[in-house]
Amino acid sequence: MEIPSWPQPTERESELLRTVLDSPQWGGFHPFVAEFEESFAAYQHCDYGISAFNGTVTLELALAVLGIGAGDEVIVPSVSFVSTATAVSRAGAVPVFVDIEPYSFNIDPDRAAEAITPRTRAIIAVHFGGTLADVDSLVRLTAKHGIVLIEDAAHAHGSEWNHRRAGSFGICGSFSFQNGKVLCAGEGGMLVTNDRDFADKARAFANQGRKPGESYHKHFTLGTNFRMTGFQAAVLIAQFESLPEQIARRTENATLLKTLLADRQKLMWQKQPEQVTQNSFYLLPARLEDATINRDEFCKALNAGQVPCAPFYPFPLYRNPLYQQENSCRVLPCPNAEAYVKNAFWLPHRVLLAEKAALLEVAQAIRSTLEVSQAAGI
Ligand SMILES: Cc1ncc(COP(=O)(O)O)c(C=O)c1O
Repeated sequence: MEIPSWPQPTERESELLRTVLDSPQWGGFHPFVAEFEESFAAYQHCDYGISAFNGTVTLELALAVLGIGAGDEVIVPSVSFVSTATAVSRAGAVPVFVDIEPYSFNIDPDRAAEAITPRTRAIIAVHFGGTLADVDSLVRLTAKHGIVLIEDAAHAHGSEWNHRRAGSFGICGSFSFQNGKVLCAGEGGMLVTNDRDFADKARAFANQGRKPGESYHKHFTLGTNFRMTGFQAAVLIAQFESLPEQIARRTENATLLKTLLADRQKLMWQKQPEQVTQNSFYLLPARLEDATINRDEFCKALNAGQVPCAPFYPFPLYRNPLYQQENSCRVLPCPNAEAYVKNAFWLPHRVLLAEKAALLEVAQAIRSTLEVSQAAGI
């Protein structure tokens, strides 16, 4: 079975990397960095893009710009990559873990509403796997309470809600270009925003407190160096050229795979709200709602058959040793997250880049693995 590898280099990366190598500027001031910031922010329907060396520091940058710190609380989903929560902790604030919805894999706005206190400053919503969280409800909720919405859009390059792209709903969107992401340079990140003041502050913070047009040696505010290199931008400009075509292919293949397995009623794919007009399909997540199937054995069997598949996160974020420490976080009841960690899994995006023949084999492998697992009662 031919499942494409990832990342996928072309001659274009080599050509653009050579351009940087042959220039006297390899760092964040190479023109490729500003060029990529502008084009990626515009693609996400935002006016400003502030790049950084990864998508963890972009979350930290957002919180620093917003002045969130000691004494503050930030509401986060209980299942995500750890950076969503550690960015809050590193800012000195307290992450408040709330449950996800039963089938969207995304933060439940009603549970977020219940978690709001006078100390709450922000909600960070993750667009899990590329499917946007319910931004209509989240924007309404944050506006009502005078707090901000930060979109952790690390999975959601090109994803849309009613034809508007991820990152354009909150005060900012935070993207990752880490090795496994659908747009990648090994490492990299970007904040996108439509707020001029936020953009100016973020750019200054990530570039040692400098102001555009002023002396390199003049620092107006306390900042640091989060700059992306010219090499990262070169790779990203090249990879970006393939993104729309890859999203189209993954979308077509996700539909085909779900259609082929539509009779498997206990295989519940991530719910796609009708407002989701485009999905990056960074992940194709699903739940196995059959108590006779052991999710870990199911994933192992698929992997043995050459189908890449990952059992979900092993536990909700609040069960990490870090968050077992006293006063490190606040946790609301999360029955859905607790159920997901037992029965959810995901297929990575490279599966959805396969040719049709291979995709038919993937569907067949999932079907027979389900049948064997059920028959064995494992
Ligand atoms: C939801 C989420 N947020 C943040 C990050 C952090 O990005 P990076 O690995 O670029 O630091 C990731 C990376 O996997 C992620 O999945």
